[in-house]
Amino acid sequence: MISLAAAAAGGQPLVSAIATMSKFFGIAASIAVVGVLLAGGFLLEDRNGELSPAALALKRVATLAAAVWAAAAALNIWVSVADILGSSMGAALDPTIIRSFITQITLGQYMFFQLLVAIFVLVCTTRLRRVGGTVLLLIATLIGILAPVFQSHSASSGSHPLAIGSLCIHVVAISLWIGGIFALAVMDPGARALAIPRFSQLALWTAIAVVVSGSANALTRLNFLDAWTSSYAYVVIAKIVLTGVLIYFGFQQRRNISRENSAVINLAKFSKIVSIELIIMITAVALGSWLSFNPPPAAPSTGEFDPALSIAGLPMPQAPNLTRLIFSYDPDALFIGLLVLASALYIRGIIILKKRGDEWPKMRTTMFFVGILLIDYATSGGYGVYSHFAFSYHMVAHMILGMIAPIFLILSAPITLALRTLPIGRTRDERGVRGTLIAALHSRLTRFWVNPVVALLIFDGSLFGLYFTSLFGGMMQSHIGHFAMDVHFLLSGLLFFHVIIGVDPNPRKVPHLVRVVILFAAMSIHAFFSVALMSSSGLVDGGYFASLQRPWLTDLLADQRQGGAIGWAMGEIPILLALVATFILWVRDDSRETRRIDRNTERLAAMGRPDELAEYNAYLAALAERDRRGT
Ligand code: HEM
Repeated sequence: MISLAAAAAGGQPLVSAIATMSKFFGIAASIAVVGVLLAGGFLLEDRNGELSPAALALKRVATLAAAVWAAAAALNIWVSVADILGSSMGAALDPTIIRSFITQITLGQYMFFQLLVAIFVLVCTTRLRRVGGTVLLLIATLIGILAPVFQSHSASSGSHPLAIGSLCIHVVAISLWIGGIFALAVMDPGARALAIPRFSQLALWTAIAVVVSGSANALTRLNFLDAWTSSYAYVVIAKIVLTGVLIYFGFQQRRNISRENSAVINLAKFSKIVSIELIIMITAVALGSWLSFNPPPAAPSTGEFDPALSIAGLPMPQAPNLTRLIFSYDPDALFIGLLVLASALYIRGIIILKKRGDEWPKMRTTMFFVGILLIDYATSGGYGVYSHFAFSYHMVAHMILGMIAPIFLILSAPITLALRTLPIGRTRDERGVRGTLIAALHSRLTRFWVNPVVALLIFDGSLFGLYFTSLFGGMMQSHIGHFAMDVHFLLSGLLFFHVIIGVDPNPRKVPHLVRVVILFAAMSIHAFFSVALMSSSGLVDGGYFASLQRPWLTDLLADQRQGGAIGWAMGEIPILLALVATFILWVRDDSRETRRIDRNTERLAAMGRPDELAEYNAYLAALAERDRRGT
């Protein structure tokens, strides 16, 4: 695998300068795209789901920025080839070489993916009309920005999950923070007053994320004393100072914005501070681009080659035992970031309800945090760590993510909390964030996903697609693959249990009988999958676990079969619990329905009106009689 570090080591000053420059323009342009899409999809008014005139006016800015991004992404590929080959830019402009770089070298593949996303965004920005499409394009842009990060320095550091994860959070938070400020600077001044309060909240969250993620990332590289005398460390320190200044101006801005009455914002002062902030941010981005292209100081090596470190991104742990399974912890920064964000949003919802004088059931809050802790344990905790090294431990982590944590999260009713607390429209025509969520919940796409058969196919069918093809081995090899697999386990579990035992609103009313049938189907398919694994004669990991040269649990096939047995045991129990819960819900709903009919009969009787149900039955009987007499 060739990383940017190796490229930079090529050591041609001109090529390195071009590389840092094209990286800078690529990042700056992509941040401008993020800013405009963020403004259209979240900060500016939406007119019943349509973009407002102020947002439409920014489309040209997005298209121009996307064009610069695409050009810089193409230049990044070219200059990386020159640097890796140690050749001149001219010599590197060879179609065969470039084709093999973007098709066979992981770094090249990620860079080419970013180029394709930039071109896609460029085309789509010209057609933007609706808020929903703008939000989806914003997500696509962030994915495109993140792609090369998975092959940056962080991919060669001592702890992939922490280094890569923290840099991803850093890049997303920077993009939203700077992008938002850029959008405020270029948008129609008349529309600013509405956008500023909402951005001010977002700016606080992103600033915190930038500082925490940047510090975490810096610590994975500067984790020995001598490192702090390197030019890399000096640039990091400079960035910390700049961030301090940025936060000072951020507070000035907040003081200038009285949340209660956004109309009184001193726009002149606001614009002055914005231009200062933008200059500092551009400087910080330039320094960040330099950092991302120049290798961090090399840590003193033990001289021993650890295959696990280069393949799994973590040093080989000692043989597992109860203590290590309970107390091992290797932070997966991406998952931790998502869990912290989800927890912050959930707590914010509860606080809003409390302020309104409404209570939120404590049991639901408990369920939520049990779910969050289980996910953290299965990704960063003991089983999260050992899941990189042995199939049986991978299966335990899989079952916690796919079968156990989702049940707790589903029963914590996050959608209900969101619907009760998300902001409504700020103007008469605006649908508001809550309106957007309701529209999404009732969309055809959501109706497709919550179809019980679709949920079952994703939940159980995908197991065969993953483990009985080369996909599993491929996903285990890379950090993004491992992360995507864990996210898939979690989302497919959340979808399945939402459809079966969910307490949140569901656009589809799934009859209890259908739920029971789906659960029985899930049990049998899962049992069949586990038995297939337990009786497999070949390894399903494509040689991944063997390549780690694990000194413990050396019988790989036995460990895989053990994984099958664990999958069976841990998989069936939650489905069984869901079955019991479904029967209880069924009985409860039936008795509730009976009580409703009884109450209705009594109400009608009290009003001297015939009981509708009795009347209807009499009508059916008359029909039957008529048919019998053939008249
Ligand atoms: C506490 C403050 C901060 C610290 C400790 C910090 C640290 C870091 C570190 C260690 C990297 C990784 C470089 C590498 O790949 O080797 C990085 C990347 C970067 N930082 Fe920061 N940073 C901070 C604040 C900021 C701010 C405020 C900005 C912009 C406004 C910024 C912009 C960037 C950019 C653009 C990158 C390159 C990302 C990429 O690879 O695509 N950073 N930072």
